[in-house]
Amino acid sequence: MLMMIDIHPGDTVLETGSGSGAMSLFLSRAVGPKGHVVSYEIREDHHNLAKKNYRHWRAAWEIGHREEWPDNVDFILKDISTAAADMKSKTLDAIVLDMLNPQLALPVVHSSLKQGGVCAVYLANITQVIDLLNKIRTYKLPFVCENIIEVTHRNWMVLPAKIKNCKSSHMVETKENIEEPSQKEYEEAHIQDQVVLKESEYNESLSDDAETYCSVPYIAKPSHWQDAHSAFLTKLRKFRPLLS
Ligand SMILES: C[S@@+](CC[C@H](N)C(=O)[O-])C[C@H]1O[C@@H](n2cnc3c(N)ncnc32)[C@H](O)[C@@H]1O
Repeated sequence: MLMMIDIHPGDTVLETGSGSGAMSLFLSRAVGPKGHVVSYEIREDHHNLAKKNYRHWRAAWEIGHREEWPDNVDFILKDISTAAADMKSKTLDAIVLDMLNPQLALPVVHSSLKQGGVCAVYLANITQVIDLLNKIRTYKLPFVCENIIEVTHRNWMVLPAKIKNCKSSHMVETKENIEEPSQKEYEEAHIQDQVVLKESEYNESLSDDAETYCSVPYIAKPSHWQDAHSAFLTKLRKFRPLLS
């Protein structure tokens, strides 16, 4: 989302909702000491959590950098759809919407966004993206949709292997051929588990070059367990044709 909105030090960005405050931290860093982030949240518990996480992050920053990170995020406890009056005094370089029904926010916030500014919207379902684009069209909101991308991740398994039936210290007796931990084991072990190779497979995997021998071979392959989809990101650019 940060790449999509292409913000710079000194920019002002509106975010809704604050949630855990995770996105706010990245926005805070991207706009830097001279920039400003305004983050709306409708739920009090989320609002407090976001503020707490931001406070902790700034404290950690101070320990690591020996200087304070500027307090450049305003966390506001309010439904964004009721914030029209607040918006009148704002000029925004970019908007990030990660909330249910972002189409309710757009009519309120669009007039504060600079011409050419980007509003990035995070949605889980493609039907929500269609609803959003339909509202933009029917309300005649000044946005063009430049891009819709699905965010996918590919988890890889990279683990040291044990050698089955090997006389070395890597010997194991019971496990089958190349094993991958179950998703639960995988998550619990934080990739500390080992996979098992037959000794013959291990020998085949060795190159002739003794320099490249490794006492513990590694298995590296895409994991069976995948979180194939995390979001659809929609890039809306404000574009209001100039009257001639
Ligand atoms: C998925 S979370 C946001 C997560 C956040 N980006 C993060 O980094 O943790 C969505 C948040 O939007 C808030 N929200 C939903 N509708 C809202 C509205 N109309 N005005 C303000 N916040 C809203 C929800 O309460 C929720 O905390």
